[in-house]
Amino acid sequence: MLRVGVLVSGGGTNLQAIIDSVEAGRITNASIEVVISNNKNAYALERAKNHGIAHMCISPKDYAAREEFNQELLKVLLSYKLDLIVLAGCMVVLPKELVEQYENRIINIHPALIPSFCGTGFYGLRVHEKALERGVKLTGATVHFVDSGTDTGPIIAQKCVEVLDDDTPQSLQKRVMEQAEWVILPQAIDDIANNRIEMRDNHVVRKDK
Ligand code: GAR
Repeated sequence: MLRVGVLVSGGGTNLQAIIDSVEAGRITNASIEVVISNNKNAYALERAKNHGIAHMCISPKDYAAREEFNQELLKVLLSYKLDLIVLAGCMVVLPKELVEQYENRIINIHPALIPSFCGTGFYGLRVHEKALERGVKLTGATVHFVDSGTDTGPIIAQKCVEVLDDDTPQSLQKRVMEQAEWVILPQAIDDIANNRIEMRDNHVVRKDK
């Protein structure tokens, strides 16, 4: 059984997609052990509570120094003996020690087709604002392993979504979530839990193809 921890910051719709997939049997061999938010008001914490999942807030704001926050987050994550950490709308920069310790065991969902519209400053609605400004006709979402850079780790899965002429950042965000994020993030977790992917030359490849 893959022990999964989910890091969140906001509404938690991706967390909900993971919970629903576990409960419906679309994700097998995995259990959500803990949900951690850096924001105590995140609705994602309520979603965890509603499903009887351990949840807590660990916020940099509650520590005098960033280093203290880093150590506490690492300590708590280690205490759950996790096999996989999922960043599901997590807006906090992860401690370097955490990324090193969990190499190829942390995944992130990004609301664009990496390497487009990614990197520092590209998160949430802003990604869709930039995509609309540029006039792209296709966008989508990406699940990738987390390395020391921002959105630079090996890509696990991507899914395209059409951009419509009358889209607003909000309408585009909704379509990308519904058609791409909530689909590929649970699928990636199921693929990892069932040992269907492996790393080859720093690229993710499927074992079943
Ligand atoms: C999602 O769209 C996710 O892709 C994005 O934040 C949103 C969180 O929504 N993540 C990033 O932008 C990371 N760079 P949620 O809390 O409803 O899952």
